[in-house]
Amino acid sequence: MYDFKPDTPLSADELHRELLAAAGALTEGEPDAVANMANVAALLWEFLPDLNWAGFYRVASAKSGGAEELVLGPFVGRPACIRIPFGSGVCGAAAESRATQLVADVHAFPGHIACDAASASELVVPVLRDGTVIAVIDLDSPTPARFTEADAKGIEALAALLSARI
Ligand code: SME
Repeated sequence: MYDFKPDTPLSADELHRELLAAAGALTEGEPDAVANMANVAALLWEFLPDLNWAGFYRVASAKSGGAEELVLGPFVGRPACIRIPFGSGVCGAAAESRATQLVADVHAFPGHIACDAASASELVVPVLRDGTVIAVIDLDSPTPARFTEADAKGIEALAALLSARI
């Protein structure tokens, strides 16, 4: 039904422009956050080569109540850690600092959480709403240093688009 996959080889910048346009079209006018995150996870997987995991962690209450933490959201890839405290691992670092984490070698990142042993590099971008982190977008690759500054900028633009849609 939806065929958003690019059919010709594109530069990283072009891929991100097309990814953003596809995500905008798929989520426009749809208020359901889970549906939008699920479709965007699928788009990330289709558009970006050399990934082994692509998806969302959402900010939600801890099981015991009280402090907020990251809770697994829609994704493509192997089953993953469900709950990540702020400050833990690459995702927790992005949530706590509200800053993109571009990690060339996950094994050199203090506290990295290995959900999939195949992961070698990672890009995590916070989704902010009114300055508060509401989720993170997490991309993992089996290739060291897979992600570039162009990828970081592209996923930050996607996060800005999704701020009011998830
Ligand atoms: N590696 C992440 C955990 C999430 S998985 O990669 C899906 C981290 O260190 O936060």
